[in-house]
Amino acid sequence: MRLIGRMNAANLRSAMLSYQHEYHAGNHADVLKHAVFVRVLSALLQKDRPLRVFDAHAGSGLYDLGSREARRHVEHEGGIGRLLAAPAPPPALMAYLEAVRACNGGAALRRYPGSPWLARSLLRPADQLVLMDLHPRALEVLRRRHGHDPQVHVHARDCFEGLPALLPPPERRGVVLVDPSYELKDDYARVVDLLASCHRRWPTGVYLLWYPLLRDQPGERLPARVAALGIRRIYQLAVEVEGRGFAGMRGSGMLVVNLPYGLDAELEVLAPWLWRTLAVAGRGAAHAGWLVPE
Ligand SMILES: C[S@@+](CC[C@H](N)C(=O)[O-])C[C@H]1O[C@@H](n2cnc3c(N)ncnc32)[C@H](O)[C@@H]1O
Repeated sequence: MRLIGRMNAANLRSAMLSYQHEYHAGNHADVLKHAVFVRVLSALLQKDRPLRVFDAHAGSGLYDLGSREARRHVEHEGGIGRLLAAPAPPPALMAYLEAVRACNGGAALRRYPGSPWLARSLLRPADQLVLMDLHPRALEVLRRRHGHDPQVHVHARDCFEGLPALLPPPERRGVVLVDPSYELKDDYARVVDLLASCHRRWPTGVYLLWYPLLRDQPGERLPARVAALGIRRIYQLAVEVEGRGFAGMRGSGMLVVNLPYGLDAELEVLAPWLWRTLAVAGRGAAHAGWLVPE
């Protein structure tokens, strides 16, 4: 029994360590996730009171699109590359696209900002950012980049234990991004439990949960499991850029608990616009609406 336990822990660790976001930075899934994250955070920043951002799966925070990993499948060309080239993006995208341009110092696309970079670029002096990860390389980069920043707190911590332990934050206002790679199949169930326990501790927090849509995967069942938690005011967006038979990730979705008031109208426009801009040969679909209303 102890041996099996140890083997499982080793397998879990190696699956976690094998994931490298460098291969996927700026792809269609990042675009959906980051567009919603930046829009929600910008809306919360409209009020004067300080807030705290929790990035439970931070990654390394900034990606070189010229790296060997990024050039392998050039996934950003079908994601942020298309967005930057598209005419008349909707208002919900403006702050995100501005942040991507600021990260690149102009129009040329050389780098892609991850969620830590995006969050840090928006914070005011009294706001705080908590970054959690377990990957030694991601942690090293995060510490190098943010180690001396008094507003950023880097935690080498398993978010399934560490995130609930930090809630509610002293500011009592803020947002949590839950963004695992789902390399570990347990993560589909664990994120639902995580959301339930975080919401019990901090019911007024805004929670963003990203999930992938893959063939024969439980991502599709995730929204129903979240809806069954009894939490109110959950908004859902999904953008599929490929058809159902596609062998890889055909799309992804975001669930937003406690979506700030007024944003539903903007997200309703954003989802179909993203689909039209990102879909491969008109395949796939978009969805936006309340999963659980008020
Ligand atoms: C999809 S990447 C995150 C990308 C990042 N949120 C962004 O948008 O730029 C997932 C990250 O979660 C980390 N991770 C996986 N399991 C974790 C856990 N239990 N606790 C904290 N971090 C974890 C991985 O090391 C990886 O860096």
